[in-house]
Amino acid sequence: MSDSQDSFVKTEPSLNGTDPGDLAPARRYAQIIGWGMYVPERVVTNVDLEQIVETSDEWIRSRTGIGERRIVSSPKETTASLAIRASRAALQVADVPASMLDMVICATSSPEYQFPATACLVQDALGAHRAGAYDLSAACSGFVYGLAMARGMILAGDADYVLVMGSETLSRIVDWTDRSTCILFGDGAGAVLLAASEEPGGVLSCALGSDGSGSDLLILPGGGSAIPTTLETVASRQHFVKMDGKGVFRFATRVMAEATREVAAKAGLSLAEIDVVIPHQANSRIIQSSVMRQLKIPEEKVFMNLERYGNTSTASIPIALCEAIEAGKVTPGQNLVLVGFGAGLTWGATAIKWCAPVTKQPSPWWKAARRRAGYQIASARSVWRRAARRVYAATLGPADAPTLRGRLRASIDAGRAVWEERKPDSLKPSPDDDEG
Ligand code: ACO
Repeated sequence: MSDSQDSFVKTEPSLNGTDPGDLAPARRYAQIIGWGMYVPERVVTNVDLEQIVETSDEWIRSRTGIGERRIVSSPKETTASLAIRASRAALQVADVPASMLDMVICATSSPEYQFPATACLVQDALGAHRAGAYDLSAACSGFVYGLAMARGMILAGDADYVLVMGSETLSRIVDWTDRSTCILFGDGAGAVLLAASEEPGGVLSCALGSDGSGSDLLILPGGGSAIPTTLETVASRQHFVKMDGKGVFRFATRVMAEATREVAAKAGLSLAEIDVVIPHQANSRIIQSSVMRQLKIPEEKVFMNLERYGNTSTASIPIALCEAIEAGKVTPGQNLVLVGFGAGLTWGATAIKWCAPVTKQPSPWWKAARRRAGYQIASARSVWRRAARRVYAATLGPADAPTLRGRLRASIDAGRAVWEERKPDSLKPSPDDDEG
């Protein structure tokens, strides 16, 4: 067990709602103990975009602050595959095996499918066999919403370890003939692991908001129940992002400042006590006008990396958090505010008292080998379960059918039930299981 894990182990009382007699349960806190990011290798610069649409490096830089973005380049790179890489990095930093996870939350605006949830694919690839998993749709505010959901579960005693990620392949839903949107977005993923802790701090407060009257300002109209996909909707490019940039801009500058104020007040912090602001990386002018000018938070406290990644929607805040940590801008004891806005319209902010050590601990080679083996076993188990399911479905009839296949299935089902009831405790999943 690593140093970080030592200080953030689960709190015994109140776990899963069980209260040990008359003892008052210890106060729980939701600490971020692991973080990771992944961006595709392919870099697309503003100059590259000049070849695709009528634009210029000068226009994009001066209106948005963006210089380049990362874009997926192979069909194998998908929202789930980016999320898996970022999640593995977060688990590695925390030195926590995937088998300990209670919940996997994937915030995304470009999910792998309408359903199943991208989070389920991540859960399977990690081998997080005890975890629930769901996708969270709140556009670019999704990661902050995810932190709020994770904090709620941990404080309620329903979970000890929650993995929250934002992952996007926006390049697949952006109209590459529309210069007003295609220059803005990029692909990438970021993830954090939250753990229950008795150490005061962690995610202190959350402020979430929405205003559906602005749903038309930023929308992907086609492919849902309102406009199901047809040849016509594809021909009229309804399956791509549509945006009223000016409307979003006005909304964003207002709510970023308001949400930061609200979340700081909820955490009992004055604006001067905020050490680092990590805003949604949409547009440097939005950040300057809201966080810096309206709130008068100095530039050196505001972390920005959108020049290199563009707007990666739900992934922008966790990617920026990882890079702020890497750059030495986040240290234990500091007060952080993460604040975002997005389609919906939605907005959200969270105040964090950072507690986890940020210096890299040298990890022994065998831990990396064990982690790799765990992921290979998870992948093999997934293939096996899928194959077994197919064989089962193909060879056996309904359990109540008066046929040989039906009787065979009924006796297999009965045997399985007996096995589940009688199997030794050592074979039952336990919270202390290691990976694989
Ligand atoms: N290159 C060159 N010219 C362009 C481009 C481009 N890429 N895009 C638009 N223009 C032109 C327009 O056609 C217009 O020309 P016109 O005056 O001849 O009509 C002119 O530039 C000005 O266009 P505006 O839309 O007024 O430009 P503005 O200064 O508002 O900047 C921008 C546009 C960058 C999109 C800005 O409005 C913005 O950043 N809005 C917020 C968008 C955002 O953050 N969206 C993400 C939300 S988060 C989420 O949920 C995904």
